[in-house]
Amino acid sequence: MPTLIAPSVLAADFANIQRDIEMLNKSNADWIHVDVMDGVFVPNISFGFPVIEAIKKYATKPLDVHLMIVQPEKYIEAFKKAGADILTVHYEACPHLHRTIQQIKAAGMKAGVALNPHTSVDLLDDIIADLDLVCIMSVNPGFGGQKFIENTYHKVTKLQLLIAKNNSKAVIEIDGGVTDVNAEKLCAAGASVLVAGSFVFNAPNPIQTIADLKTSTNQ
Ligand code: DX5
Ligand code: ZN
Repeated sequence: MPTLIAPSVLAADFANIQRDIEMLNKSNADWIHVDVMDGVFVPNISFGFPVIEAIKKYATKPLDVHLMIVQPEKYIEAFKKAGADILTVHYEACPHLHRTIQQIKAAGMKAGVALNPHTSVDLLDDIIADLDLVCIMSVNPGFGGQKFIENTYHKVTKLQLLIAKNNSKAVIEIDGGVTDVNAEKLCAAGASVLVAGSFVFNAPNPIQTIADLKTSTNQ
């Protein structure tokens, strides 16, 4: 599968969100990554439904919504209504993960599970066949602009084997500290969706940076 690029709007300029979404529409980005933080699951608060609706109003690409919240099962329909196409919940926030995944699919979205850096990919053995996406956190969730954790490569390799063993169609997404330094190595290990926040939005030319990431990981 070709590598997909999913810029994270957490690093966008919220006073110019229409401009930044239109920039992503014009770029080679495949998905728009949307980080929702509740101040409970993670030590930061980002934004909620009105902001997602505003993004959806302008976006011409799928919204890849990453929920860093407790009890995500309470809000599945609401995220669908706000415009989510892919909905990812955290393994660590879901005691009834199987049910939550079925609810996401029943609501008409692709279902993903995110793993914190300390959570082993082996814990997905009994759910991987049901997943459309696994998001490996390559930083501790809560903030953009953090340093990439090198153990991520090892997790990607292990997850790739688990996916093959279970005939799963899940794609591997990497979230946190992605740059041109690690992108190619991540894809060689088996990743196929790269989230990038600060690397894209802090670049002098974000459209060019997205294009370069896409080219370098699709050779
Ligand atoms: C972190 C978020 C990430 C973040 C990535 O909790 O889930 O999506 O926006 O930002 P960078 O690419 O700056 O690490
Ligand atoms: Zn994210």
